[in-house]
Amino acid sequence: MRNIVAGNWKSNKLLNESEQFTNELIQQLSRIEKTEVFICPPAPYLAALASKHGSRGKLKIAAQQCSGEAMGAFTGEFSADMLNSCGVHAVLIGHSERREHFGESDDVVEKKVRKAIDSGLRVIFCCGESLGDRTSNNHFHWVEKQLIHALSNLNSKEMNQVVVAYEPIWAIGTGQTATAEQAQEMHAFIRTWISNQFGQEIALTTAILYGGSCKPSNALEIFKQKDVNGGLIGGAALEIDSFMAIIDAAEAC
Ligand code: PGA
Repeated sequence: MRNIVAGNWKSNKLLNESEQFTNELIQQLSRIEKTEVFICPPAPYLAALASKHGSRGKLKIAAQQCSGEAMGAFTGEFSADMLNSCGVHAVLIGHSERREHFGESDDVVEKKVRKAIDSGLRVIFCCGESLGDRTSNNHFHWVEKQLIHALSNLNSKEMNQVVVAYEPIWAIGTGQTATAEQAQEMHAFIRTWISNQFGQEIALTTAILYGGSCKPSNALEIFKQKDVNGGLIGGAALEIDSFMAIIDAAEAC
């Protein structure tokens, strides 16, 4: 399976900065052969970046979220079908910052996954436990609950559109990374869950990314783990040099 590295810009960069970054990234990606690279820019830039770069193969454009509703009277929302019509390839769903700051419950996340899958987008589904759940040894239970809620209603064919990103909340933007062993242990747990739900073949072809303070200094060790298929990168995806160093680490695995 190809490794994936996805850069989540969150609410960062102005339009000219996003264009400059993407132009430079495209050039540097010419040396990358097997890793699938995504960027997740802020929503206002998606159509421009996707129409310019989205179909060139080396770089895929993903949104950071979408609506759980179809089109209609939902002021401020944008639907999965709209993203698709702009040439956007994928969408992050269930990121912990959406869950925490914008009240996205498991039910909302499930609706968004359904809409994105139906529109043909790939879904990068984010899950992960809080520090409290980790220290009280509830982390497997918590992640399993998130997986069941969001993914168990999909059929096997639909599951082919899904990439899972394990992002322990205590590691996001904190500089504190899960150890390679902690990541591997949870990734193996997620893969077993997928296997039990959808069969072994799907489990072996579903990419499971690690996210949470992943940076050039720790990416290789984490990506080398058996059940880690790349990373979802926040802070370190904002600069070309650090993002490329992480892509190189994925390419080396
Ligand atoms: P971080 O963010 O790499 O800055 O920890 C990861 C994410 O939130 O996707």
